[in-house]
Amino acid sequence: MGKPWSGRFKEKTEEFVERFTQSVSFDKELAPWDIRQNVAHVKTLLRAGVLSKEEADSLLKGLKVIEEELLEDRFEFRKELEDVHMNIEAELINRLGDVGGKLHTARSRNDQVVTDERLYIKDKLSASCELLRDLRRVLVKLAERSVDIILPSYTHLQRAQPIRMIHYLLAYREMFLGDETRFINAYRHADCLALGSGAVAGVDFPLDRFYTAELLGFSRVCRNSMQATADRDYVLDVLYACAVCGMHLSRLAEDLILWSSEEFGFVDLPDRLCTGSSIMPQKKNPDVLELIRGKAGRLYGNLFSLFTTLKGLPMAYNRDLQEDKEPLFDSIRTICDCLEGMKLILEGMKIRMDRMRNASGGFTLMTDLANYLVHKGLPFRQAHRLVGSITSLLLEKGRKPEELTLEELRSFSELFDEDALALLSPEASTNRKNTYGGTARDEVLKMLEVAKREEGIS
Ligand code: ARG
Repeated sequence: MGKPWSGRFKEKTEEFVERFTQSVSFDKELAPWDIRQNVAHVKTLLRAGVLSKEEADSLLKGLKVIEEELLEDRFEFRKELEDVHMNIEAELINRLGDVGGKLHTARSRNDQVVTDERLYIKDKLSASCELLRDLRRVLVKLAERSVDIILPSYTHLQRAQPIRMIHYLLAYREMFLGDETRFINAYRHADCLALGSGAVAGVDFPLDRFYTAELLGFSRVCRNSMQATADRDYVLDVLYACAVCGMHLSRLAEDLILWSSEEFGFVDLPDRLCTGSSIMPQKKNPDVLELIRGKAGRLYGNLFSLFTTLKGLPMAYNRDLQEDKEPLFDSIRTICDCLEGMKLILEGMKIRMDRMRNASGGFTLMTDLANYLVHKGLPFRQAHRLVGSITSLLLEKGRKPEELTLEELRSFSELFDEDALALLSPEASTNRKNTYGGTARDEVLKMLEVAKREEGIS
């Protein structure tokens, strides 16, 4: 079958050009949305009086048959027809004859491809938001069971201060909540109808674009035909939202990888979510987490690949824009996989609270000791220096803070009394951090209630 645009050409297209310019090998992913769009376009053409009732019915029937073939994976895509749009249209012409040739009236692939993508993005982002919500729910449920699990927090990956595990888990829940706002933002930007913009200037048929928008579920209509066909910012927004979410997943994955090591031993990953080594029989590797950590790289790559493609592009449509699809599809697929993988890990892992508790005392309590002196009237800087010298002495002697006696403390400062020794408990330390958003038991319980309410958990 000849190319739809063959009229102007005297030579057959080079094979290289066919292979190099085709996008059907990947944009066939848009086929279900292309069908939906074609259906809405036919109805709009009918309403505009461009198509007769019989013509519209025949086209709609033809589209229905192709849709079924697509669903059953029976539709044959052909590279020489370039992209998903021309494949479907050509097949319609092939089956219906002349009337099939009327489908592309008042439309260009430039507004068609944008419309398909925007529909695809809206559906996929709704699905990603569901996965994100599932993951947050798992975090909240795990948090609810972790109120009294104490572990050290780390800054600079050095033990810092004792915290409650619930606090750690709700910290990630906050980040994943932020991701939802980025997904919703991307959804809003995608939620605008491009069809009716034509190739660049608009179209000279009386299309009711608001009717098309209603048929396709778009809440807005693009107000400028040049912007509508030239702009891919709505794709960038998706890639950015996926990149940030992937970065959060990567950080959580890194913690869990460290925590599952023999050195930390804070969590145990289930066998079914780990893999072995082909040479070292003793190994149980956290490959799922490592891949989640690694995938952030390709999510950033996808964002920067499209950013770079868009830079300096002249107004309006240019074929460069075809490069937006592979990063888009890849980012959506990748983020969905990572969200699902992380959920499985969190549901399956065992928290070793004894190991966490054992690691949480000791020098993580030195800030508490300094603050004790501050409460007794010593300026913080002096208290810091004084407790620093106690720390240095203990380190020199290879002793732990819990072994300090009152006499020893008093040899450093007369301000120390009996109650100073009671400070040296990780639980008590967490409970003193009772500012809004702190790790004190009462505070985290309040935040748990907020999280449960927001996630619809009773
Ligand atoms: N496959 C093309 C793309 O994704 C569709 C639009 C092509 N338009 C054109 N005038 N060549 O960008």
